[in-house]
Amino acid sequence: MGYTPKILLHRNEETNRLAMALSDALGGQTPSNVFICGKPGTGKTATSKFIGEQLLKKIKEINSSYKRMVLNNFFEELTEDLADQNVPVSGGRNKILGVKDVLGEEVAAEIERNVKYIYINCKHVDTKYRILTNIANTFITDWKERLPFTGLTTDMVVIKLLKCIENYHGVVIIVLDEVDNLLKKSGDDVLHILSRLNEDLKNSTTGLICISNDANVFNLIDARVNSSLSLDIMVFKPYNAVQLRDILKHRAEKAFNDGVHSQSIINLCAAYAARDNGDARRALSLLMVSGEVAERSGADRIVEEHTKLALEKIETDSVSEVVRTLPIHLKIALLAIQVQHEQGRTKITTGSVYESYVQLCRTRGISALTKRRVSDFISELSTLGIIDANVISYGREGRTRIIRLAACDSTISDTFARDDEIKDLMFQETYPSVPRMQTRLI
Ligand SMILES: Nc1ncnc2c1ncn2[C@@H]1O[C@H](COP(=O)(O)OP(=O)(O)OP(=O)(O)O)[C@@H](O)[C@H]1O
Ligand SMILES: [Mg+2]
Repeated sequence: MGYTPKILLHRNEETNRLAMALSDALGGQTPSNVFICGKPGTGKTATSKFIGEQLLKKIKEINSSYKRMVLNNFFEELTEDLADQNVPVSGGRNKILGVKDVLGEEVAAEIERNVKYIYINCKHVDTKYRILTNIANTFITDWKERLPFTGLTTDMVVIKLLKCIENYHGVVIIVLDEVDNLLKKSGDDVLHILSRLNEDLKNSTTGLICISNDANVFNLIDARVNSSLSLDIMVFKPYNAVQLRDILKHRAEKAFNDGVHSQSIINLCAAYAARDNGDARRALSLLMVSGEVAERSGADRIVEEHTKLALEKIETDSVSEVVRTLPIHLKIALLAIQVQHEQGRTKITTGSVYESYVQLCRTRGISALTKRRVSDFISELSTLGIIDANVISYGREGRTRIIRLAACDSTISDTFARDDEIKDLMFQETYPSVPRMQTRLI
């Protein structure tokens, strides 16, 4: 959902803190670097876009009131001078003259405070080269002058970027949303470069806002980069049912005709979403899909039944989407779990999943990865909410993870059945009912 709300509800504390961190930009000073983290749908993107708009609005106000002041002073002085010279002054200030006419274009440009707010989503722009050229190109209006998508060395791009920022004579705030994609794909090199731009700038300064729903993402980066970034960390908490209710109410009033939604439907959607991680995106899509279900069934208002059907549809869609986009080895590990689940195996462990996984890889003709990697896949599938993997302790015998499917098994198998990479594996005759790998020589 790409909609950016005009009003952000229940995020006053967060917007104020972010505004404080960026307030130095209004005075032309270097703002703090910020790291915003929080679970999906907690309003990180919406807040960062909202604060960007507010900041630019504020700068415009400051610039025009400053210009007004400069103009008024000029005319006051002019009137006094003329009065001193006994020249009669008729009827106040000439409104046709602006700052540029009075001070000249160059001086007028100099008294303006420049603040640029550059938003980049690292899900789409995820390499060092593309991030740096994207930032530089926001300063270049002539298409012919823009930096190419490929072909320059990093050093060349950094030099051009520094030149663009320096010539801007202002404060440049760079927002890297979903920064975990960038770090995972391209490492922390680009953050290192961005964190050190200020060392080479005299006329301008930069600030960085990094956003991620993975709070641990900065633990992975080099201590040197972390220290030069010196990030101010802000955590966005999940919304509770009352907060979600207000967000939904506000949106429903804009989205639906009168009488289509009721307070009880809003409360129901808010309660479901609060139970599932307090995700505003999920709450909003539950309400919107409830509306679609009602419309499709010919009803003129949403009732509880529509919301229940919408909930099922959303759950199925999101599980399918997650499964569909998994890398191949994760898909095979999940298939290994799913087949054991279907066979009614009661104790699915990392070891048993690994055995099945190896077998499936062999059938598919690809090399199996190590047990350690498959154990990581199990953790990843658990984080995604597709499986539960609870550690059970057997006292002196050690500990093991007991795995079970958390998502609906038929949704997973329907998704696999439509997946060209996996569908053949599902129906392999050779698949052992309780797979065992030979580990000793007989
Ligand atoms: N406080 C709020 N008031 C109104 N709408 C909100 C609020 N918070 C979030 N939303 C809406 O909820 C949806 C999800 O919010 P957003 O995209 O900002 O979440 P996010 O924290 O960036 O999630 P992710 O980690 O998945 O990127 C958006 O449609 C957004 O407009
Ligand atoms: Mg976001």
